[in-house]
Amino acid sequence: MSDPSDDPITVITPRLELHEFDEQVDAPVVLRLLNEPSFIEFIGDRGVRTLEDARRYLREGPIASCRTHGHGLLRVSLRGDGTVIGMCGLVKRDTLPIPDLGFALLPEHWGKGYVQEASRSVLEHGRSALGLTEVLAITSTHNQRSMATLRTLGMTLEDTRALAAGAAPVNVFRLRLPAAAPATEPSMG
Ligand SMILES: CC(C)(COP(=O)(O)OP(=O)(O)OC[C@H]1O[C@@H](n2cnc3c(N)ncnc32)[C@H](O)[C@@H]1OP(=O)(O)O)[C@@H](O)C(=O)NCCC(=O)NCCS
Repeated sequence: MSDPSDDPITVITPRLELHEFDEQVDAPVVLRLLNEPSFIEFIGDRGVRTLEDARRYLREGPIASCRTHGHGLLRVSLRGDGTVIGMCGLVKRDTLPIPDLGFALLPEHWGKGYVQEASRSVLEHGRSALGLTEVLAITSTHNQRSMATLRTLGMTLEDTRALAAGAAPVNVFRLRLPAAAPATEPSMG
């Protein structure tokens, strides 16, 4: 993997922009996202109940990850009007050997293919900028919507296991990233 750069991570897709979170600006939308029933059911309760909690979550979670690893959950917004719709990115957990893909959208933005679009660009950034050759993804065993997205991205279910003693088993998906095409040699003529 390349060294984490000081340059903020930016990923652009046809409809979306992904940027590192801003602790102050993004706290309100993150407070809402982390308290959506779908987030709590399928990802977990992060105990974020106030704007100060949301700022701390962003500072110690996604923002710290980007600085430390060169990747982390990014803010996903619409290119048209800048509306923040959710988060997507590569997470590094102590319980998994390589980064895993994570995402969550506010429910009014489901069903438009936005997470597939964001994820494809995040994976390409992981391959080309970070030199990753494989990524994982984990879902709760009943998160059908997330599993459908992962399968569409080409990920395959490899295992169902608990990542920590006493934790509920999760589905572990894996995707091999194609090697970068070799650079064209300059002509010697
Ligand atoms: C998981 C989650 C992000 C999936 O959202 P999503 O919008 O279904 O994801 P996708 O980007 O794969 O979109 C696929 C849907 O968009 C539709 N779609 C519309 N336009 C599309 C396009 N241009 N390209 C692809 N799909 C498109 C598809 O038909 C599909 O809709 P359907 O499921 O109603 O048939 C969302 O359910 C969520 O935030 N859940 C809560 C958090 C969570 O569980 N996170 C994952 C933890 S592992």
